[in-house]
Amino acid sequence: MDPSTSGLAQKLAEAGQSHLLQFWGELSPEAQTDLSLALQGMDFQEINGFFKSAMETSSSSKHEKMDARMEPVPREVLGSVTRDRESLGDWELTGLQCISQSKVGALLLAGGQGTRLGVSYPKGMYDVGLPSHKTLFQIQAERILKLQQLAEQKHGTKCCIPWYIMTSGRTMESTKDFFARHNYFGLEENNVIFFQQGMLPAMDYNGKIILESKGKLSMAPDGNGGLYRALGNDGITEDMERRGIEFIHVYCVDNILVKVADPAFVGFCVQKGADCGAKVVEKTNPTEAVGVVCKVDGLYQVVEYSEITLATAEKRSADGRLMFNAGNVANHFFSFSFLKDVVQKYEPKLQHHVAQKKIPFVDTRGQLIKPDKPNGIKMEKFVFDIFQFSKTFVVYEVLREDEFSPLKNADTQDGKDTPTTARHALTSLHHRWVLNAGGHFIDENGRRVPAIPSLKDGTDLPIKCEISPLVSYGGEGLEELVRGREFHPTLMIDEQGVHELVKNGV
Ligand code: UTP
Repeated sequence: MDPSTSGLAQKLAEAGQSHLLQFWGELSPEAQTDLSLALQGMDFQEINGFFKSAMETSSSSKHEKMDARMEPVPREVLGSVTRDRESLGDWELTGLQCISQSKVGALLLAGGQGTRLGVSYPKGMYDVGLPSHKTLFQIQAERILKLQQLAEQKHGTKCCIPWYIMTSGRTMESTKDFFARHNYFGLEENNVIFFQQGMLPAMDYNGKIILESKGKLSMAPDGNGGLYRALGNDGITEDMERRGIEFIHVYCVDNILVKVADPAFVGFCVQKGADCGAKVVEKTNPTEAVGVVCKVDGLYQVVEYSEITLATAEKRSADGRLMFNAGNVANHFFSFSFLKDVVQKYEPKLQHHVAQKKIPFVDTRGQLIKPDKPNGIKMEKFVFDIFQFSKTFVVYEVLREDEFSPLKNADTQDGKDTPTTARHALTSLHHRWVLNAGGHFIDENGRRVPAIPSLKDGTDLPIKCEISPLVSYGGEGLEELVRGREFHPTLMIDEQGVHELVKNGV
């Protein structure tokens, strides 16, 4: 279809985006059709508006530090697995009861591009090299299965935790295929609900959409806060309502330790009457580049490390902890009514954040250029942008070593957040579960491995130990399998039993 007769050329001219057709005459008929379809589906006035306001917000916030407007999370809205140990059991009971009544849904954010990890498939399909070679998706699915079982056992009713999985244009088909090929990892197909977040074009600093090839725009998902628009567009809130979901646990695909639909977190939030909750880990190092949950002008939000001065980052409370220590890990609780209000009322008020990126583009001669410094922006919303609308916000502090180990980067020597660190985090957690349940490990010389490993001689590699989520969700139920027994690593505990995979010297 000729763009000048179809009105497309005019639409682009009005939006200042005519350059998108500059190679039209060189494209094959198929490429012309694809480009034309892509362009017809876009609202350029809206995109230009997003660009303008995102750039304005980003340039004004660059100059202004938040320090004077910030207050830490007050103790009365904070629950902590270490400081409120005596309440944990009760919170968990409440959470399990809600789960047993099928009132709890899990919502997975899996629409990211995983550029730093650098694989061509969705991150959830990644195998970090555990003895079982389970992928992140499988681990999470099995945690859901186990939790359903625990709630059923406790309350004698059959229940279901529907699993809502947000993907993006780039990850939808491969994610769906993967689940179908693996028979939904034992979950019921109709309780695994996929939906798709939106995409936005990358733009140069003058607001011109970037072409990644002569006939293709450079597109990226609109950030994990694209969730709220997608929930409305894809009818997911209606689905939740139909199923009677009252509480939703939202989390990221890349955290290998994630306690999906964590009953203690859910129970804590429910008992507090919260509409919105954030799970956090303690920030202990003032210069760690992690966002902290706090109040700004009386409303909750996440403040990034770059938005405060070092003096504020270093401030300590009377107990010696950092004053702003509620490290955000993108792990949240929402009541359904709050989520629905966000989708219906508040979402349009959210601003996009600007991420400066090196974006490959074709220049006016049609040459593909890969820039070595940022040449444009991607616009993103964040899942935590809606904290400001919460009326009863709570914060739940957990131990990093028990619950948070994200997979962000490919393996490098001493790298942070890599497949190796994720694998070690999981196996050392499972090692501790075995010790807590009364089991022991012995080394190749038949000596007991001390519970606290020695760091000398580089022998600080974690014991290889993996426990299937189908056997234990959070360390429970292991005593009868391990108490008083000694194991040679690698230890695997799964539905078939307890196995030592490699017996040293055998
Ligand atoms: P990150 O911001 O770490 O991005 O996502 P990423 O895509 O995993 O990795 P990079 O930055 O490209 O290397 C944190 C979580 O938010 C989800 C991701 O899937 C991950 O679970 N996410 C991110 C989305 O769902 N949509 C997005 O647009 C961006």
